[in-house]
Amino acid sequence: MLPWINWLQPFLALISSTLLTQGQSCPSSCLCPDHHTVDCNGRGLTKVPESIPLDVRRLLLSNNWITWISSDFLVLYSDLVYLDLRNNSLSMLEPGTLSTTSRLVFLDLGSNNLTEIPSGTFGDSRSLIKLRMGNNPYLSMVGRDAFTGLTSLRELELEKNGLKELDVIVLEPLPSLRILRLEGNPWLCNCQFAKLFAWLTKNRHKLPTGMEGIECSLPLNGNHVPLSLLSDDSFRECRGILTLTDYLIVIFSGISVSVAAIIASFFLASTVHCFQRLSKGSKGDEEEGND
Ligand SMILES: *[C@@H]1O[C@H](CO)[C@@H](O)[C@H](O)[C@H]1NC(C)=O
Ligand SMILES: *[C@@H]1O[C@H](CO)[C@@H](O)[C@H](O)[C@H]1NC(C)=O
Repeated sequence: MLPWINWLQPFLALISSTLLTQGQSCPSSCLCPDHHTVDCNGRGLTKVPESIPLDVRRLLLSNNWITWISSDFLVLYSDLVYLDLRNNSLSMLEPGTLSTTSRLVFLDLGSNNLTEIPSGTFGDSRSLIKLRMGNNPYLSMVGRDAFTGLTSLRELELEKNGLKELDVIVLEPLPSLRILRLEGNPWLCNCQFAKLFAWLTKNRHKLPTGMEGIECSLPLNGNHVPLSLLSDDSFRECRGILTLTDYLIVIFSGISVSVAAIIASFFLASTVHCFQRLSKGSKGDEEEGND
């Protein structure tokens, strides 16, 4: 190699890196503190800015007025690891937006205006570790398969939403879950809640506020009670119509009642029969005595 090329190398490196950084243009209203971070926090944005470098890994869009993200968002920014959309105006997510196999580890959708988490929302997001969806006051519907596929998820925040009920099936496919926030929802302690209550009792170590931090309202008078004051017994009225065991008990007790009735009527019949024979016998004796 020619010696002057060796001598030029540092300059070439400097020039090419400057060109590269300029190629990765930073959106005009945002800051790009390092090569992989775009910080558009609190810029009054109403939509996701264009010209975000495609290889962005940390994208901070919190405290804006963003109402919509396109369904191919994570396809486009497939290197995204950290996405902060906290405190925006999202009211729905296009189906499929978050269901691509992505590298996303952290997703904050807290303090938005979401109403529903439909089944399949997160599809195959196997990398996701922390999902924040609290403070969406109208969020009252969670699909049965909303969180399936989130096999790495450790933290799930659903606090201060509008949830009145939640099927435990929603929580069951989360093998890595360590922290679950459900406080501040208008839970109803009805029979639907009984199963969730049983699940929470078993998993109370995952609740940062414990059972005492979660309240539900009583169907009779609407009074709020912390879950720590309730027990399985509080939901005993709900049994009998619900479980298979209860059906079996009903059926078997039905059978044993019938068996008892048969035995009793048999016993009664034979007693009557006995008396009849006895009285016949004594009549015969009388007749014989009269002769
Ligand atoms: C949410 O974002 C708006 C707009 O930037 C801001 O005025 C407000 O203080 C933020 N709220 C919180 C709780 O950060
Ligand atoms: C949030 O959603 C509710 C009900 O869907 C709607 O009435 C309200 O206007 C929305 N608020 C904002 C700030 O978009």
